[in-house]
Amino acid sequence: MSVDTEADAAASGQGVKPARIAISGAGKRYGDLQVFQDINLEFNEREIVTVVGPSGCGKTTLLRCIDGLMPVSDGEVRIEGDLMTQPREGVAMVFQHFGLFPWKTVTQNVGYGLKLAGVSRAEIDEKVPYFVKLVGLEGFESVYPYQLSGGMQQRCGLARALAMEPSVLLMDEPFAAVDAQTREILQFELLRIWEMRPMTMVFVTHSIEEAVLMGDRVVVLKGRPSSVFETIDVDLPAPRDRSTLAHPRFAELREHVWATLMDEVRAAEFDVR
Ligand SMILES: Nc1ncnc2c1ncn2[C@@H]1O[C@H](COP(=O)(O)OP(=O)(O)OP(=O)(O)O)[C@@H](O)[C@H]1O
Ligand SMILES: [Mg+2]
Repeated sequence: MSVDTEADAAASGQGVKPARIAISGAGKRYGDLQVFQDINLEFNEREIVTVVGPSGCGKTTLLRCIDGLMPVSDGEVRIEGDLMTQPREGVAMVFQHFGLFPWKTVTQNVGYGLKLAGVSRAEIDEKVPYFVKLVGLEGFESVYPYQLSGGMQQRCGLARALAMEPSVLLMDEPFAAVDAQTREILQFELLRIWEMRPMTMVFVTHSIEEAVLMGDRVVVLKGRPSSVFETIDVDLPAPRDRSTLAHPRFAELREHVWATLMDEVRAAEFDVR
């Protein structure tokens, strides 16, 4: 059959891409501890999904399962149709505590993933400066992490992940360890970088503001074991910038997520009493 138009392709099912990340019936146990269960989520191309939930509800665990660093106990995680049983090309993760090598310079840290992936020296030498510049670390190429501020270390971790040119970027509270002003700068820089190079981003955060600001959708995990309590579409205008923070809809969404999470926190407090 020949397909003449996009409409034909859509009608015939051709060219209709599956979700980039598909999580179905996923559950995870550590021994007797059931961390989460029955998680069903789909993340599309060019979509930023933020994930919030109380401490210990399994956000990091879920990211590690998506990355293929550990298997789910039930159900499955697929990226572009492939079952995730081990890390794969095109999927990068930014960890909360930077994960930099203290004995490597900025250039060496940023190029490390490429080197592991077997990229040629010449290509690494060409790519690394671009990503160092992209995150604003120009001039710091040959310094070591201890000579960088927390925000700069976080930029370095981000450059290392971006240098892999991932189609999926997983971020575990990437800005939790930096001060409030730096955090705001990094949030907008990440959005700017994303506009230049859109990808599927799954972004775990403890900050409700950050979740609403960054996300096209906010996934709220709740319960013990946890599961998806609610998925909130963030219908704020794009691109997001500082003016977004003053948007009345931003305040409404933030309050909505806050109320959803606070129920759980209050219940936990009551348990303790
Ligand atoms: N490797 C492990 N072995 C056993 N239990 C684990 C392991 N990793 C995490 N856990 C447990 O699983 C639960 C979920 O942990 P996880 O780190 O995924 O939570 P989280 O939502 O990321 O929390 P936080 O918001 O504090 O980072 C916790 O009860 C934790 O103690
Ligand atoms: Mg965590």
